[in-house]
Amino acid sequence: MFVRVAGRRIALGITGSIAAYKMVEFARRLTQAGAEVQVVLTHGAAQFVQPLAFQAVTGRIVVSEMFAMQDERAAGHVALGAWADVVLVAPATAHALARFANGFADDLVATTILAARGPVIVAPAMETHMWRHAATQANVARLRERGVRIVTPESGELASGEIGEGRLAAPERLAAAIDEALAGSASLQGRHVIVTAGPTVEPIDPVRLLTNRSSGKMGYAVAVAARDAGADVTLISGPVALAAPVGVRLVRIETAAELLVALLAALPTADVVVMAAAVADYRPVAAAPGKLKKNGGEIVLRLVENPDVLRAAVAAKRKGTLIVGFKAETGDAVAAARTMLVAKSLDLVAANDVSAPGSEFGSDTDQITIVSAEGAEVLPLLPKAEVARLLVDRIAASIRSGSG
Ligand SMILES: Cc1cc2nc3c(=O)[nH]c(=O)nc-3n(C[C@H](O)[C@H](O)[C@H](O)COP(=O)(O)O)c2cc1C
Repeated sequence: MFVRVAGRRIALGITGSIAAYKMVEFARRLTQAGAEVQVVLTHGAAQFVQPLAFQAVTGRIVVSEMFAMQDERAAGHVALGAWADVVLVAPATAHALARFANGFADDLVATTILAARGPVIVAPAMETHMWRHAATQANVARLRERGVRIVTPESGELASGEIGEGRLAAPERLAAAIDEALAGSASLQGRHVIVTAGPTVEPIDPVRLLTNRSSGKMGYAVAVAARDAGADVTLISGPVALAAPVGVRLVRIETAAELLVALLAALPTADVVVMAAAVADYRPVAAAPGKLKKNGGEIVLRLVENPDVLRAAVAAKRKGTLIVGFKAETGDAVAAARTMLVAKSLDLVAANDVSAPGSEFGSDTDQITIVSAEGAEVLPLLPKAEVARLLVDRIAASIRSGSG
């Protein structure tokens, strides 16, 4: 069932769902496959399962108490997050999802997630109505947005006797999620990845600006996925309504010219540049020094072309730096991406049709096609975090094969 877990450290958080008992067997198999498994129980979970059962199968003392004095000498409440190669919380209750989505640090499972340096996997399990509730779904979306991998529950008979969605994912799916996380967790180790994200804003006068609808979600997801793959990440971001990802160097910019300066400053050490920002093609010739007044008639805004940031990056990069472009188009984005790949000498272009359902600006999902000299790889419509992960996998594969 497990492929890559031998010698790896897995923190296994278990929360207060009736499905908690299933994890004894899972922890046993994980340990038998050669993983070091540290079980952490919430107080809720301890109502359903005995620590002793996990201790017997993992050979490690099960922990629950955050305020355990002997552990605190070594900052025990965060030590587990740093120790683990992967954190898996299974089953995750609705309550646990709400706590994690809001960054609570009120028990050892929550602090382990907050302190995690590697991938975090969460497998919810609950009654159907709880799972479908807008609050739960919003919490799941928020976690996904931050790069947490969600192993969605399955349909079947629930503890209540009802048939519906909410059963903890089968052990094979939990195992696959761990293997996948471990496979990706070091693929960009030691690499410097620059990601540009969000819109640029070009001032018209002190209060008005020209901008676009880019939400930054895709670029932020790529930055998180690259971080989780072990990269040292510089995220150059226009103004967006997203939280700064933990463990990523964030450089805030406003105009295309500022983006170019930040990019050229970071470029000399870059192994990969992912240009997900929607850079304004044009800017006002000059921003008016004072607020423009109404004049009762038409006004003319004169625009000049901005520098081509992508072309500048390709010209200034050192040999071997892989450059990935994004092509958002309404209509045939793949054809436009092919043209862009050749015209700008890029290594990969992620094409998306922003007029297609689910791929619009601001949405949490995206359907992209990865275009390279070898051809086009069409991905399904997926949450942006998963699109980002697949793109990062593809980038890591290109680096391994020596292209770029
Ligand atoms: C018998 C029983 C079964 C429960 N099963 C679940 C469950 O499967 N999923 C869930 O989200 N909550 C379930 N709950 C509610 C949680 O135990 C409760 O929300 C608790 O506060 C969760 O805390 P924790 O997430 O910190 O462990 C159940 C409660 C009881 C009494």
